[in-house]
Amino acid sequence: MHILHVVGARPNFMKAAPVLHALASCSGVRQTLVHTGQHYDAAMSEVFFRQLEMPEPDCNLGVGSGTHAQQTAAVMLAFEPVLLERKPDLVLVYGDVNSTVASALVCAKLGVAVGHVEAGLRSRDRSMPEEINRLLTDQLSDLLFTPSADGDENLRHEGIDPAKIHLVGNVMIDTLVRLLPRAERQFPANVPTPYALVTLHRPSNVDDLLWLRDLLATLAELSGQLHVIFPVHPRTRQRLNGLGSLAAGARLRLLEPLPYLEFLALQRHAAMVITDSGGIQEETTFLGVPCLTVRENTERPITITLGTNQLVGRNLQRLRSAAAEIVAKGLAQEYRKSTDSSRLPLWDGHAAERIAKVITQCAANRPRG
Ligand code: UD1
Repeated sequence: MHILHVVGARPNFMKAAPVLHALASCSGVRQTLVHTGQHYDAAMSEVFFRQLEMPEPDCNLGVGSGTHAQQTAAVMLAFEPVLLERKPDLVLVYGDVNSTVASALVCAKLGVAVGHVEAGLRSRDRSMPEEINRLLTDQLSDLLFTPSADGDENLRHEGIDPAKIHLVGNVMIDTLVRLLPRAERQFPANVPTPYALVTLHRPSNVDDLLWLRDLLATLAELSGQLHVIFPVHPRTRQRLNGLGSLAAGARLRLLEPLPYLEFLALQRHAAMVITDSGGIQEETTFLGVPCLTVRENTERPITITLGTNQLVGRNLQRLRSAAAEIVAKGLAQEYRKSTDSSRLPLWDGHAAERIAKVITQCAANRPRG
């Protein structure tokens, strides 16, 4: 069986790595790895391949940046000939980025089976480009691998055949479980404690410059209570450059994007994390670190119901008071003590093995000839 994986952007890499590793130990499976090049900076891509011990991509489509239509179309145009030439039996796509939906659409048109890893998540907010990508990719997929039961429910509501849905657990947590011991040795030097760790890159937070300026001023204010460490995504860096002089100071540190291990180590020891990322809501939940999400909604409700996540929305007063509460009560320690990852069904480090099992069983059941 020939399986072709498509990855494109930073959050894809930690999801694909465990699946590549799990399938490598299955007999009769041949794998091809295609990188669309949606993320192209070494700090957003190369270093992740190295730390996650992923094979070099067999092919890089080099699509780079652009508007959503340009980026999606560029992936489709470049991927179609690769698919025709390589003729895989199954294409695996990951998460919700533009590369995911673009490659799934090419497969569907050419009648090539698609498996979607991290299917079924819904924010119900169609102003998010990722929500459109999730909805469409799931409609186009033949195998849907969900991280949590809410994903199965969302898919059934949308009329997806339940036979296609496989609840396997969270592959991103597979990577975290495997690499956390190594990350502990990779804690960046000269990090003052205690600190809040910040990441922001969603258009809703960084494309509105007035909001971004106020958000940054609030972080500067918070740095009066504890250090604030902010590795800055390239999209955010571009917007910050447009803001001119920054409120950053000795206690609010703006860094370049960090590699996986260093960032995981910083999450593990943070007093709190302030973010708009999807994956980080999950990682902090697993680690038991309080997380304040600067969004009105989340496609990962389990991080609120069973985890440490709170939505503060687009409301600086809520951000201030939630952060102050964590500082005042030392909630970080309380959360950590109550952390027991068994409360998160199937977030156990073995999701990718379950995916490999489903795929190899499907192959075995396929009529021959
Ligand atoms: C993409 C995903 C988002 C994911 C995020 C993680 C979509 C719709 N969005 O958003 O879901 O959470 O990746 O990082 O697919 N840039 C660089 N170097 C790079 C990559 C990007 O400088 O290696 C700059 C580009 O100039 C671009 C901007 O960052 O204009 C945004 O990149 P893009 O890939 O369009 O989306 P992200 O915001 O990274």
